[in-house]
Amino acid sequence: MKIVLPGGSGQVGTVLRRALTAAGHQVVVLSRRPAGAGEIAWDGRTPGPWTEEIDGSDVVVNLAGRSVSCRYTPANLEAMMASRVESARVVGEAIAGSARPPRLWLQMSTATVYAHRFDAANDEATGVIGGSEPDVPDYWGYSVDIATAWEGEQEKADTPHTRKVALRSAMVMSPDRGGVFDVLLMLARLGLGGPVAGGAQYVSWIHDRDFVRAVDFLVARDDLSGPVNLAAPAPLPQRAFMRDLRGAWGVPVGLPATRWMAELGAFALRSDTELLLKSRRVVPGRLLEAGFVFDHPQWPQAAADLVRRVRSR
Ligand SMILES: NC(=O)c1ccc[n+]([C@@H]2O[C@H](COP(=O)([O-])OP(=O)(O)OC[C@H]3O[C@@H](n4cnc5c(N)ncnc54)[C@H](OP(=O)(O)O)[C@@H]3O)[C@@H](O)[C@H]2O)c1
Repeated sequence: MKIVLPGGSGQVGTVLRRALTAAGHQVVVLSRRPAGAGEIAWDGRTPGPWTEEIDGSDVVVNLAGRSVSCRYTPANLEAMMASRVESARVVGEAIAGSARPPRLWLQMSTATVYAHRFDAANDEATGVIGGSEPDVPDYWGYSVDIATAWEGEQEKADTPHTRKVALRSAMVMSPDRGGVFDVLLMLARLGLGGPVAGGAQYVSWIHDRDFVRAVDFLVARDDLSGPVNLAAPAPLPQRAFMRDLRGAWGVPVGLPATRWMAELGAFALRSDTELLLKSRRVVPGRLLEAGFVFDHPQWPQAAADLVRRVRSR
C-alpha cells in the first residue's frame, strides 16, 4: 500500500514509519521541514503540490500537531489547537479533492478527550467526555476542546469514498530516544519515579508494537469507523505504573512528589502538570469487541520488554 503520514516525522510517526516500511509499504511523510527520501513539504494548513501524494494513496494517517509537552501559555494553547484543527481540515480537503481518494483516513486524536475520573474506565460507548469535571483546574477543559475540535474536523469532512477513524490514543510507549517512555524511564533512573500527588490518578498507555498492530487491524477492518480507543486494556494508577517501571529497570526507590513539587518539575521541564495529574482511565472497548488481541496487555510485561529494547539500543 501507499500510506501517507502527515506529521509523520515525530515520535508516533517514527514508530509507524519504521513498521510500515519494514512490512513493505510505501510510506510518504508530509513535513514542514522535509529532510530526506520519502518526505514531502507541506505547511499543515494550505493545499499545495503535496495533495498529489494523497490522491491515489491507500491510507492516510494524520499525526500533525504541535507537541502538547510544553508550558500551557495562551500562545502555545492556540498553536496546539490551530495545528490540529487546520491540518485535519486541509487533509480532509485533499481527500475530498482527490480523483482517487484513499480508502481510509486515520486521524490521530487522544485519550485525553475523556473525563478525569477514577471510578470507572472510559470506553467509546459509555465513556464520559471531559470538560465539565467539578474538581479540576478550568484550563484542563482546553485539552478536551482541542480533541473534540480535532475530531470534529474529520467528522465534517465530505469524503464519501473514504472510511474515517479517529484514534483516541493513550501514550504510545516506544524505546526511542526522546519519546514519552524514554522521559519516564529517565525520571525513574534518577530516583524521581515515585507517586505524584498521591499517585491515584490512572495512566493509560499502549505498547508501540500494539499501536502498530491496531493500525494494521483498523486498515483491514472495513466495518469499523468513528472513534476508536487505542489503549492497553489495563490502565493502572500512576504509583503502580511507576513502581512497575522502576522494577523493570531495577531502581529500588522513587521519591514521592507532592502537587507543588510536580508544578516545579513541570516548570523546569517546560511542561504542564495536566500531563501528570489528570486521571486517564481509558480502555479499548471497540478493539476488544472487534476481536483485537493485545500482545502486551499488562504494564509490568510491557515495561520489561521496552526496557530490554532500550538496553539493546
Ligand atoms: N505520543 C503519544 O503518545 C501520543 C498519544 C496520543 C496522541 N498523540 C498525538 O498524536 C500526534 C503525534 O504524536 P507525536 O508524539 O508523534 O508528536 P510529535 O513527536 O510532536 O510529532 C508531531 C509532528 O507534527 C508536526 N507539527 C508540529 N507542529 C505543527 C504545526 N504547527 N503544523 C503542522 N504540523 C506540525 C511536526 O512535524 P514537522 O515538524 O516535520 O512538520 C511533528 O513531527 C500528536 O498530535 C499528538 O498529540 C500522541
